[in-house]
Amino acid sequence: MVAVRHLGVLTGGGDCPGLNPVIRAVTRAALQAGVNVSGIRNGWKGLIQGDTVTLDLQSVSGILPRGGTILGTSRTNPYKRPEDLKRLHETLARLELNAVIAIGGEDTLGVATKLAKEGVRVVGVPKTIDNDLPATDFTFGFDTAVNIAMEAIDRLHTTAESHHRIMVAEVMGRHAGWIATYAGIAGGADVILIPEVPVDIDEVCDTIKRRHGRGKDFSIIVVAEGAQFKTGSDVTREEKLDEFGHVRLGGIGDLLGKMIEERTGFETRVTVLGHIQRGGSPTAFDRVLGTRFGVKAVELVLAGRFGTMVSLQGNKIEAVPLDQGTGALKTIDMGLYTIAKIFD
Ligand code: F6P
Repeated sequence: MVAVRHLGVLTGGGDCPGLNPVIRAVTRAALQAGVNVSGIRNGWKGLIQGDTVTLDLQSVSGILPRGGTILGTSRTNPYKRPEDLKRLHETLARLELNAVIAIGGEDTLGVATKLAKEGVRVVGVPKTIDNDLPATDFTFGFDTAVNIAMEAIDRLHTTAESHHRIMVAEVMGRHAGWIATYAGIAGGADVILIPEVPVDIDEVCDTIKRRHGRGKDFSIIVVAEGAQFKTGSDVTREEKLDEFGHVRLGGIGDLLGKMIEERTGFETRVTVLGHIQRGGSPTAFDRVLGTRFGVKAVELVLAGRFGTMVSLQGNKIEAVPLDQGTGALKTIDMGLYTIAKIFD
């Protein structure tokens, strides 16, 4: 097997807090092992376009606390156009990139899986604020998003209480209720609505009325963007699909707010947290997890364990086959959701 002398690293898909700690850890660990590192700009697009930058100790200095990704990102799918895939392979050969570490969610890692099957020497690092990837207990980015959402719920509480209002907070998470459930429990939300359980509007309004009945004239409702009404389907911002076939979710908070106000007569306001949840500095948990993932990914590259991805299992960082990491969606642990319901 050809020894790895030149390693490429890329970040693909939605940005998320913790990407820079991974890039920093990968660069430092690789350089220490005598391997040169190139940052590939804007995900798979950078490999198609041959857009790379040399990473050294200086270029990753000071990036640990920074949100986003110094490499940029895109939702480019090289398997969409055969000519793109050809150019991607040409770039790998021309730059003599012996291995690639791909940091991303289901789409980026899905591409990595296909490339690994074609013989490209790739190792994956799972990221997403949604925490919906199977084969890892947690992805970095999730903890930061949850803390941001929790703080927002804390702030909504004060207005809810002062104005005797119902406050609806719509959070991200795609088709899994991890952010909603964690932030909802941590913020003491009165109702948490998630994609895994169809929304029963009568039950929501009954809970609010019951609280009023016992003197609680305000309520906090957390709703995941992917939650659906019993009869309905995804609530989306636009019909357009991205290169991986995803719709842009969003808008259920507004629908819900209107329904609650109409049915209960209580004044209701809606806050959509949106990309605020994905921005800014990573929490300590995400910085540590990102760093551990980065170091382990380089270890796997050096050991020639391509076609794998790093994964958090309990408190250990392990390697699992890439295709296990991008299979079925990891939906919420219903035991946890039940805890949230106890406080209704
Ligand atoms: O997957 C991360 C995520 O933030 C989802 O929670 C959300 O649905 C989506 O990305 C938003 O994507 P975009 O940044 O393209 O609007």
